[in-house]
Amino acid sequence: MNIEEKIKKIKKDKNAIVLTHFYAKPEVQNIADYLGDSLALSQYAQKTTADIIVFAGVYFMAETAKILNPTKKVYIPDRESLCSLADSCPADEFAEFKQKYPEHIVISYINSTAEIKMLSDIICTSSNAKKIISSLDKNQKIIFAPDRNLGNYLNKELNRNMILWDGACHVHDNLKVEHLVELKKQYPSAKVIAHPECRQFILELADFIGSTTALINYVEKSLDDTFIVATETGILHSMRKVAPNKKIVILGSEENSECNDCKYMKLNTLEKIYDCLNQGKNEIVLDEKTIEKAKLPILRMLELS
Ligand code: 13P
Ligand code: SF4
Repeated sequence: MNIEEKIKKIKKDKNAIVLTHFYAKPEVQNIADYLGDSLALSQYAQKTTADIIVFAGVYFMAETAKILNPTKKVYIPDRESLCSLADSCPADEFAEFKQKYPEHIVISYINSTAEIKMLSDIICTSSNAKKIISSLDKNQKIIFAPDRNLGNYLNKELNRNMILWDGACHVHDNLKVEHLVELKKQYPSAKVIAHPECRQFILELADFIGSTTALINYVEKSLDDTFIVATETGILHSMRKVAPNKKIVILGSEENSECNDCKYMKLNTLEKIYDCLNQGKNEIVLDEKTIEKAKLPILRMLELS
């Protein structure tokens, strides 16, 4: 049996599923039982009846799945699959920062650790952030963490004045506006589409801004045939599947090449997925108090989504 067949068999034998994100390697996306953006993945993890979830994404995603469905065994193929954005907000520093704003509620992006979720009132993702913030009273004072780029974008779009934690994703924050301008010259009719974790200068040049799912849907449904995409490279696999005849160019962090990989997402390999299913390796373990406290703001998000 090849590795794909071995994974298929062991999943069936153990009543297990593999979840992954659009930034994972193509071969990982191809074998997943479910592929989605952060919101859809958490909704899927909450509802699954499988006994085992292998989360071939990054740590905060697997942790969120465990929080939402704690009776399941949740594994991550590589323990080093972290997220630079989640790690840009240490819980002790954030707790201190929060104390300065006693009248503010905390809205945190799902790309955050369980400790940050425990310090938050509502979680959001790139696909529901606008809806969630718009549902709150205009006078409600808000701290937004950890992504300053997404927070800044939301402040502008929704005419809010949220206090922002100064965090960022190393992939999106490094995309250069000069490269985008060069690419626009090369492909003058292209539509520019961007993930809201990008810096403001990139977002200002975008024709469309959205979550990974929204970006893929945009390319599929658009009547245009050329796109410059400002996000992580893994998305190209799903985009080219839904729009095989369209020209899709990725904005790279250096020399317009396809080098803006999320190194953490790319740690997921078929071999590691098989090993963690076979050996029960890298289980996500959280204590009851963490699960209980971190779950509340995630459930608020799911209610509001
Ligand atoms: P999405 O929720 O849009 O898939 O984003 C997840 C992520 O990690 C972006 O860097
Ligand atoms: Fe985190 Fe950035 Fe990787 Fe998304 S692309 S998982 S925000 S490090």
